[in-house]
Amino acid sequence: MSAGPVDRHQRPLRDLRISVTDRCNFRCPYCMPKEVFGPGYAFLRDPQLMSFDEVAEIARAFVALGVEKVRLTGGEPLLRADLPELVRVLKTELRVRDVALTTNGWLLAQRAAALREAGLDRVSVSLDSLDPVTAGRMNGLGFSVDRVLAGIAAAEQAGLAIKINTVMQRGVNDHEILALAEYFRERGHPLRFIEFMDVGNTNHWDRAQVLPAREIVERIHARWPLEPIGPAYRGEVAARYRYADGRGEIGLISSVTEPFCRDCHRARLSADGRFFTCLFAALGWDVLGAVRAGVRGPALEAFLSRIWSGRMDRYSDERAELISRGEVRPKAEMSYLGG
Ligand code: GTP
Ligand code: 5AD
Ligand code: SF4
Ligand code: SF4
Repeated sequence: MSAGPVDRHQRPLRDLRISVTDRCNFRCPYCMPKEVFGPGYAFLRDPQLMSFDEVAEIARAFVALGVEKVRLTGGEPLLRADLPELVRVLKTELRVRDVALTTNGWLLAQRAAALREAGLDRVSVSLDSLDPVTAGRMNGLGFSVDRVLAGIAAAEQAGLAIKINTVMQRGVNDHEILALAEYFRERGHPLRFIEFMDVGNTNHWDRAQVLPAREIVERIHARWPLEPIGPAYRGEVAARYRYADGRGEIGLISSVTEPFCRDCHRARLSADGRFFTCLFAALGWDVLGAVRAGVRGPALEAFLSRIWSGRMDRYSDERAELISRGEVRPKAEMSYLGG
């Protein structure tokens, strides 16, 4: 492996998260509230979006700098029907060890086989509730959770490794912790609970709605005893626990109560080809502009490497202090930047 750059806190660059579209067919209020992302919202248009050739060019440079894992996100990445083509390039041409996808599962049943065939390794499916009313409220459009469950079944059938991502909001879906845990432990899929985060500028984040990861663990542990296990890889976002009875594992993504910036090895590429060094950054570096101006190969690697070397971000570590000072920083929207 090449000796890639480290940032100002000595963190190497290992993961790349690529948003392939800022559009989504859901309107989860914690991410894309429908009163903001309505019919008049100015989503990116074609020349602004990266083509898959451009994505591949940029990803190639990131791989040369040490990236081993690429995750495709959105918005909803499956809205790009030709996504398997990009997966194929990442796996067969760039030889990325681990290619994963984060999806809301709505279109997964019809796409899972082609994605697997193209080489996709893993999929993380967002699912916040098993109850039709709560699920419909949390996806903003009243959509059925059964179709998402069918997508998960199809992914399993296709041979993809699966994780489930659940955003927890106190007073909204926290009454379902045990039901969700039971459902997925019976099916052997790791379930990760994500603390409600202050992403973007429009999601009405309220600290009182954050259910601390510790509390989630305690509630599950009281029913099915849990044991902490170490990370599957250095810099893993989720803290993992296994069920003492051997029935699988859960994860806790506790960006608010136990931030994990210290080991953050993630770079993010927005759908219009900007390089963001943090999920909570306001601006990204215009890598697509550079590529379109003819910057390629070693020159592109040097550009990306300089950006990473200057990186100082640790927003989640600083959040509490910023809030106590009443400091509000603008941020990019998560649907644009990728989760
Ligand atoms: P694995 O590769 O399976 O470990 O997945 P992952 O946890 O890296 O990716 P996934 O998209 O499943 O992440 C789940 C959620 O964790 C994301 O959607 C975000 O909400 C949150 N998350 C991921 N990376 C970061 C990060 O760097 N900072 C913060 N604050 N949250 C993150
Ligand atoms: N807080 C926590 N997680 C969020 N996600 C989107 N918005 C938020 C938020 N405000 C999650 C989604 C999905 C992933 C892409 O990011 O549920 O699992
Ligand atoms: Fe769409 Fe995912 Fe955001 Fe929900 S969380 S609106 S599914 S991008
Ligand atoms: Fe990384 Fe920023 Fe998340 Fe901290 S807040 S873990 S620096 S993306």
